[in-house]
Amino acid sequence: MRILVTGGAGFIGSEFVRMTLQEHPEDSVVVLDKLTYAGNPRNLDAVRDDPRFRFVRGDIADAEMVDELCGACDVVVNFAAESHVDRSLEAPGQFIQTDVFGTWVLLEAARRAGHQRFLHVSTDEVYGHVATGRSVEGDPLRPRSPYSASKAGGEMQVWAYRASYGFPAIITRGSNTYGHHQYPEKIIPLFITNAIDDLPLPVYGDGSAVRDYIHVEDHCRGIDAALRRGTPGEDYNVGQGGDEVSGVEVARAVLDLLGKPASLLNFVSDRPGHDRRYALDCSRLRALGWEPRWSFTAGLEATVRWYSAGQDWWRPLKSGDFWDFYKRNYRPLEPV
Ligand code: NAD
Ligand code: TYD
Repeated sequence: MRILVTGGAGFIGSEFVRMTLQEHPEDSVVVLDKLTYAGNPRNLDAVRDDPRFRFVRGDIADAEMVDELCGACDVVVNFAAESHVDRSLEAPGQFIQTDVFGTWVLLEAARRAGHQRFLHVSTDEVYGHVATGRSVEGDPLRPRSPYSASKAGGEMQVWAYRASYGFPAIITRGSNTYGHHQYPEKIIPLFITNAIDDLPLPVYGDGSAVRDYIHVEDHCRGIDAALRRGTPGEDYNVGQGGDEVSGVEVARAVLDLLGKPASLLNFVSDRPGHDRRYALDCSRLRALGWEPRWSFTAGLEATVRWYSAGQDWWRPLKSGDFWDFYKRNYRPLEPV
């Protein structure tokens, strides 16, 4: 397969590119990436010299460029997105432009190019807050943040193309992902890098909201399974499916692993509309022979080791704009 990987310079996309080129010697990869603040060419260093790899800087909303690239590829795997909830609360417009409109541009180009498969990478956040039980693929989508609403909007475009044109698209809904090469705004890399520098770890509200964290390698193997063995027209949940870990538990585990004091815990004002819990049932993907390999404990330990050893990767990212956003985003806990 000639695979067009959009957003391939980001966290999950770059792991998918590395994994694909390593595990599928017959495949080639073109990455289309706009290189927003979250895109990092260094994430692709390991494959840069592979003759089966090509990088194109550009926007998935650029129809002309996307048409040309789809004409030269067999399938699209769409990772490109604005991906951070807190940024979506501040400035939702670019989320709609990329995650909804950009997804439509890709679908239209791939359909016209006659692609026989298309994989759209979505998120468990489209289900919204899940009080009890686990979300299954047929559950209604109830997004509650501008980010998750944009991801749901992208999915709606995919649904429309399946129903209207019989377009053979697959959607994966991944849970909170962590591991090497994650931009240090999401909770796990933020807490690790802050703790290394003896900075406070800002835990939202009372720290009890839980997530079903999955390691990036397990997430990418899940996307690969859905792409190669999934049924076109189906949706697949991709989650660790076991541990439910709260914000304060993440913070304590990171502090323990780095031998840092509990005094670095800093409870801050809660995120507006904070979804308290996501949880996935992943039986459908497991039926394709996939299962996660990393426990949260082992994955977090490996991730802490990676950020401790690779400070030259993340230090340049925690500067200028990063701290401007940080100062705007975090507020002291309101007195009750
Ligand atoms: P990321 O923010 O690390 O990377 C996103 C990449 O997309 C960046 O390289 C960025 O430059 C690129 N991009 C953004 N807008 C673009 C545009 N208009 N055109 C081309 N490229 C553009 O994100 P991530 O964490 O790697 O997430 C990848 C995908 O997986 C996203 O679709 C996200 O919604 C989904 N997802 C993420 C998680 C998670 O926990 N990180 C969980 C489930 C699903
Ligand atoms: P995040 O990594 O932003 O992922 P998402 O919001 O997409 O699930 O947040 C994961 C959880 O961690 C969520 O419950 C919010 C919480 N959180 C904090 O407590 N402090 C932080 O600084 C961040 C970024 C998140």
